[in-house]
Amino acid sequence: MSTSPDRAPPASTAVTATLAGVGEREWIARALAQLRQEAARSADTHLLKLAFPGFPDIDFYFKDEATHPTGSLKHRLARSLYLYALCNGRLRPGQPVVDASSGSTAISEAWFARLLGLRFTAVMPACTAPRKIAEVEAMGAHCDLVRDPAMVHERAAWHAAAGACHLDQFGLAERATDWRGNNNIAESILGQLAGEPHPEPAWIVCGLGTGGTSATIGRYLRYRGLRTRLCAAEPAGSAFAHGWHDRDRTAVCSLPTVIEGIGRPRVEPGFLFEIVDELVEVADVASIAAMQVLERHLGRRYGGSSGTNLVACLQLAAQMRARGERGSIVSLLCDPGERYDATLSNPDWLHRHGLDPTAAVARLQATIDTGRWHPAP
Ligand SMILES: Cc1ncc(COP(=O)(O)O)c(C=O)c1O
Repeated sequence: MSTSPDRAPPASTAVTATLAGVGEREWIARALAQLRQEAARSADTHLLKLAFPGFPDIDFYFKDEATHPTGSLKHRLARSLYLYALCNGRLRPGQPVVDASSGSTAISEAWFARLLGLRFTAVMPACTAPRKIAEVEAMGAHCDLVRDPAMVHERAAWHAAAGACHLDQFGLAERATDWRGNNNIAESILGQLAGEPHPEPAWIVCGLGTGGTSATIGRYLRYRGLRTRLCAAEPAGSAFAHGWHDRDRTAVCSLPTVIEGIGRPRVEPGFLFEIVDELVEVADVASIAAMQVLERHLGRRYGGSSGTNLVACLQLAAQMRARGERGSIVSLLCDPGERYDATLSNPDWLHRHGLDPTAAVARLQATIDTGRWHPAP
């Protein structure tokens, strides 16, 4: 781990291939085969169904992306980013790899770097949950921590200028994933719903980090000709929230958030305004409360952005119920709650940050029990 932004760039090993005697194309073919084998060894993630007493006519489904080998929805993205870099000839034998991340992507990218025998540097905000930093380091990767979360892009570009291959999740997530299928997250969800009472959901709800997940889902819904609408769940005052409401790509956040992975300080280039039909802003304290509600209902712990998703689902469900609509709502469980043991799940940490979720837990449970939305006073 390092936090010194001014030290000299690491020496590039871009052209000093570690695999002596193996030609570049052969190395790429071998790396692609390793990624294909990894995909073949992996199972699909579960689509968990929840029934809430206040919503007898609405089925809730949560896709458990925490069950990927690297614990988050970013496992899919990391595989796609390596494939994309390899097939574009941007990643060469022995070249170090870098990316900016709020942690989840870094863990997945570090895991794939180890699979491919590459050195990986994760550029992350210094405030990233300690458990995520430890997980990146446990994969043998290096963490370059920057004090200002908005500076991660610049810092990753600096490593790239020194010879590293920049996986560039914020620039490329939206195009590295095959949005027409190939078992992307949207195709997987809709396949798993096929035999359910409401196989065409009223809503799919997801958060916004790179914008890649929302782009994949939104495009696929149109491609399949479905009426399902896409709702983005975001921390209140995020740049994406302002940007989406005003159709302004220069928007910045007006409120910092403690929910990692979403709620970016700027509108990232991969975010497509047009495919998001609704955007729900969620106060951090409500997202934290929803983590606890999820644990109560699922018997497992999930991270803050999963809580944000649950709050948006309940808000949409209450609107559907008020209009007398039936149907299904699908969302994502993005990463495991254990990653936030030292932060969002730690009472002392919450107290230090002035966050008491008690009242918000009661409001969410009341919504679950009555089917009516209980807003914060
Ligand atoms: C931990 C985490 N990272 C990132 C994201 C956002 O995904 P994307 O980068 O595809 O927009 C989410 C979405 O909910 C998330 O929970």
